[in-house]
Amino acid sequence: MMQPEEYTAADAVESCPQQSLSGHGPDLAVAADGVFDAALAARLTEPLQIGGRTVNGRLFLAPMAGLGHIAYRQVLESFGGCGLVFTGMCSARAVPTENPARSPVFSWRPEELPALVCQLFGADPQDMAAAARRVESEGFFGVDINMGCSVAPIVKKGCGADLLRDPERAVRMVDAVRRAVSVPVFVKMRTGWSPDPEPAVNLARRLQDAGADALVFHPRVAPDRRTHRPRTAHIGLVKDAVDIPVIGNGDVFDAADCAAMLERTGCDGVSLGRLAIARPWIFAQWTRGFVPEKQTYRDTLFALMDALEAHYDPARAIKLYKKLIMYYAANFTFGNRLFGRLIRGDDMQAMRRNAQAEFCRVPQVGARPNLLMFCM
Ligand SMILES: Cc1cc2nc3c(=O)[nH]c(=O)nc-3n(C[C@H](O)[C@H](O)[C@H](O)COP(=O)(O)O)c2cc1C
Repeated sequence: MMQPEEYTAADAVESCPQQSLSGHGPDLAVAADGVFDAALAARLTEPLQIGGRTVNGRLFLAPMAGLGHIAYRQVLESFGGCGLVFTGMCSARAVPTENPARSPVFSWRPEELPALVCQLFGADPQDMAAAARRVESEGFFGVDINMGCSVAPIVKKGCGADLLRDPERAVRMVDAVRRAVSVPVFVKMRTGWSPDPEPAVNLARRLQDAGADALVFHPRVAPDRRTHRPRTAHIGLVKDAVDIPVIGNGDVFDAADCAAMLERTGCDGVSLGRLAIARPWIFAQWTRGFVPEKQTYRDTLFALMDALEAHYDPARAIKLYKKLIMYYAANFTFGNRLFGRLIRGDDMQAMRRNAQAEFCRVPQVGARPNLLMFCM
């Protein structure tokens, strides 16, 4: 006999009273993100050349440590529409000898490799080159150098955004990685440590000359993580300064934000972070007109649990689930309270029971996720 802990998405649908599936509130498809923007879709699905390789789409998943892991990516892939997917940052010192079967971050499914970019963080150009060689040998689409992360433990070791304070080392790093691999080399960077965009613009030119094939630009000033608004105009300044593709990133929370970023900055594509965690179907929605239904919200929750349990041991699966759910719950009115109810308990069986109880009637969805819940 089926135990409650073995619930899947299909079981959840079956065991809910029929009337609850039609739910309440306005039509989700409309409430969730307005009308399909065909012009935006055409723009986002235009192929893009990066480092001599063609990418089929200009809407990317941003690198997110603890969120953009193999399990989340499996769910994302089930919807499709994402041009390139970036892993969370992986340590350049660990990657050369890392065992993907045991690593929580340096792991992948073979079928995702053609569109998967591995992000590396490190302080030393030679460490980074060695890690990039491993990334190339595993068959990733490309390698991304993290020059954006400004959290203290990373910066103190000379990694992430610390490189923006040391342009010579940043250039040497790109040069070393360029010489080490023939796959596309990306750099994810931010404005820097002062609001003046000029140093970033100059560095962008130098990184291009050192061999970077594309830049992903997040126009925030370190050490601000995400509390102040990004200065989107800085993306345009970087774009004007280089010939390689520039991908814009930061605070894109609906289709209008995405269209505005493309329009105002001239950037070649957009990289989505937190919104993609809340709505893994967002790439399919904006590029192909996928319409999320009430069941989509419920099924995705169970799909995330299934994927986490398939790829991780129980302790890690629950930890990663609770982190994802903070963003997922932001989709719903009173998401904060819902979040508290969804994460009650210590194991995935409890999470399934919580989800079953809460999503028998899919809660009301907001037009945009509750952005206050995105600050954590
Ligand atoms: C939980 C979390 C983890 C992140 N980890 C990384 C990372 O590993 N590497 C990186 O370059 N950026 C990282 N970022 C920053 C995102 O890639 C992105 O630049 C930022 O969230 C802004 O984009 P958004 O407004 O679309 O979320 C992280 C962001 C979040 C919220």
